[in-house]
Amino acid sequence: MKSELFPLSFKDQGKGKPLVLLHAFPLTSAMWTPQVEAFSELYRIITPDMRGFGASDRFVGTPSVDAAADDIAALLDHLGINEPIVLGGLSMGGYVALAFARRHPQRLAGLVLADTRAEPDDDTAKANREKQIELVRTQGPAALIDSMMSKLTSTITRTWNPGLIQRIFEMATAQTPEAIVDALILLRDRPDSRPGLPQIAVPSLVVVGAEDVITPLEVATALRFAIPKAHLRVIPGGGHLSNMEASFPFNLALGEYLNGIRF
Ligand code: MLT
Repeated sequence: MKSELFPLSFKDQGKGKPLVLLHAFPLTSAMWTPQVEAFSELYRIITPDMRGFGASDRFVGTPSVDAAADDIAALLDHLGINEPIVLGGLSMGGYVALAFARRHPQRLAGLVLADTRAEPDDDTAKANREKQIELVRTQGPAALIDSMMSKLTSTITRTWNPGLIQRIFEMATAQTPEAIVDALILLRDRPDSRPGLPQIAVPSLVVVGAEDVITPLEVATALRFAIPKAHLRVIPGGGHLSNMEASFPFNLALGEYLNGIRF
């Protein structure tokens, strides 16, 4: 849904306490379909599209995780949601969720950090973003997603679930080069979120696909130990896009967490 009154497109489905889920790069809110299907009887699930993705307007100023986090706070205001939410984000969505935890801690009841990290890009990662920006500008989104697919997904998914690989490819290639370049700038320039982790006061769930090579288990483990009230769940069969690749164990972990915090 996209109204003239708000810059982000988003879906608002189900009834119950609010669960907001932030998508990965270079995808859209549609990646959360397995979670919406599983949980919308129990929770109100709000899935926004990041600036430039889906039908959302592009960033007005410099793309940043802080601006993206403030968009989510503005979305809650737009929807009249004042009660604390559980906020979940996968990879890029997790970077934005960490910025939200820093900037709007009073609005959080819980935090789900899936296949993500608190560290900023190092010099090698920044140089790789530059190459990706060049690739998207010269050859378009399909060339970028082709170059990323083997890292985004597990061998199991690529071998046994070609339909999902096709859906991921279609979701990514439907995005504009401008949106993808803006997001690459946001990813490249994101700050170090590690100093804020000990201040996260809400019960948190760190999730990682067992086969994730972009944000592997050791990265998730560091996140889990830096956040005081965090638990870690490893998702068998999942790569970096664990919520789609291994939706059943992912949903089990998410459901147990939500139930456990009595949300
Ligand atoms: C993502 O899945 O959002 C990206 O892999 C994030 C990143 O490249 O840092």
